[in-house]
Amino acid sequence: TDKEIVGSVKEQLAKLFEESLRAAFPDIEDVHPMIAICNDSRHGDYQCNNAMSLWNKIKGQGTQFRGPQPVGKAIIDNLPASEMIERCSTAGPGFINVVLKKQWIAKSIERMLIDGIETWAPKLPVKRTVVDFSSPNIAKEMHVGHLRSTIIGDTLARMLEFSNVEVLRRNHVGDWGTQFGMLIEYLFDKIPNWEAASAQAIGDLQAFYKASKQRFDNDPDFKERAQKAVVSLQGGEEKYRKAWTQICEVSREEFQRVYQRLGVHLEEKGESFYNPYIPKALDLLNNKGLIQESEGARVIFIEGKKIPLIVVKRDGGFNYASTDLTALWYRLNEEKADWMIYVTDVGQREHFEMVFAAAKLAGWLPQNENDFPKASHVGFGLVLGDDGKRFRTRSTEVVKLVDLLDEAKSRCKLALEERGKATEWTAEELEQTAEAVGYGAVKYADLKNNRLTNYTFNFDQMLSDKGNTAVYLLYAHARICSIIRKSGRDIEELKKVGGIVLAHPDERALGLHLLQFAEIVEEACINLLPNLLCEYLYKLSEDFTKFYTNCQVVGSAEETSRLLLCEATAVVMRKCFYLLGITPVYKI
Ligand code: ARG
Repeated sequence: TDKEIVGSVKEQLAKLFEESLRAAFPDIEDVHPMIAICNDSRHGDYQCNNAMSLWNKIKGQGTQFRGPQPVGKAIIDNLPASEMIERCSTAGPGFINVVLKKQWIAKSIERMLIDGIETWAPKLPVKRTVVDFSSPNIAKEMHVGHLRSTIIGDTLARMLEFSNVEVLRRNHVGDWGTQFGMLIEYLFDKIPNWEAASAQAIGDLQAFYKASKQRFDNDPDFKERAQKAVVSLQGGEEKYRKAWTQICEVSREEFQRVYQRLGVHLEEKGESFYNPYIPKALDLLNNKGLIQESEGARVIFIEGKKIPLIVVKRDGGFNYASTDLTALWYRLNEEKADWMIYVTDVGQREHFEMVFAAAKLAGWLPQNENDFPKASHVGFGLVLGDDGKRFRTRSTEVVKLVDLLDEAKSRCKLALEERGKATEWTAEELEQTAEAVGYGAVKYADLKNNRLTNYTFNFDQMLSDKGNTAVYLLYAHARICSIIRKSGRDIEELKKVGGIVLAHPDERALGLHLLQFAEIVEEACINLLPNLLCEYLYKLSEDFTKFYTNCQVVGSAEETSRLLLCEATAVVMRKCFYLLGITPVYKI
């Protein structure tokens, strides 16, 4: 966008307070304004918390001030004039409570309606990030854990992209390793004309994997051939390379079906990609004296960890860790990323802690966790079934992800048909709405929880139109759109004229909440917690409901202002949906 990004309310307030701190305390260096939302809205909208720590700094130095409150008062007195602040007051041990001017809130919203919500994007201290997510393994099933990674990773990527950060969406597919020897040999046996055959000839790749594994375990001759095949593949022999490509292609098509349904875009750079770089990366680590011999393997010892990180196996082969160390090196040095984000289940936390620790020892990453470049593991809990155990269908079988998404959609379709929509809408509308709501429900049910907790997969719950669900929120948005439609007013014209007045307390509360969108996205990005955005969205719909219950919109004297407030709510909700990977609907 060519429009100026205004920054969050917090940021704008911070600018004012920075000026005042500098004016009131010119001798003190390095005071950063500490601005927070007021916990209790009766005291104010925001607070500045610098007075207490400033007082602690100066009290021993013969200051003229007599406690934190006068310090707070001095900060208030030195604030530059602004259209933003209505009044400030000190409270308790020196908090400064800030009440914003409602005219300023109204203006900010009016401006956003004209300039676009992109002007409300947060400013983050990073330029380029790698989000490593989804990352299933070739020939093995893509399970609900990968679904979680896909959904969470996509949302993080979207939020960062919205914040004008460049995002490399990396699918770190498990496409390398000894299992390929056995798969390739099995392909040669099973489909002698494999080169001419289409990729589909392999059929169900998981069944293919199982059968080849069985053969591997029971047929010594086959086992030997499989082991030789690994060597041939890694040596780059054309025939083996080709067979490997073909096997990967089958998996890839299967993964793609899930991504397509979810509307998720990824760029594959699988484990195999980093393989040629491993020796060089290990050399770098070795030159720093980090790699040692241990029980025939080559390892890196990490302080505080009982078991070292194995980087070369006893048989001389590389492993998951050597690949990840190399990928980290590549992302830092070749791709010049300043934030590497890895989305996997919490079970891999230890692995990433070790990899990141090794990178710190090597000086690739800074010692301080908060400095950039930075590597972060975004762990998440299990998906549980109603029985409280790991989510599966029909007791033993693993859930096929595509089936899961299809079921969500068909359940939504049924619910819509029961409400008579099959006759009211075109078949296409019915289909699209069912899809948006069904897939949205699956995503939202995952994202609304703190990712570290396990969550229970339950269709009835996630597809309920009451409570904190995607269905409820999508309907709330559609209802707002219908209010605007039914008013018969041209919203584009209204935007130009403007005139938001936040007279009623519920109008003001809604307006302020709208304005806090930027800082919530920022917080969700910095802490890598999409659930914060879900909480914001749900609270927004509650604030809207309160406003709509207590303030008549259509036909009232305040109609123009209130319709604009409806529109602004719809705009912010849609952006939230977009960031959560959910397609909004406009009719219900
Ligand atoms: N393929 C791995 C799995 O299925 C996930 C890979 C995550 N990314 C990484 N860079 N290790 O568990």
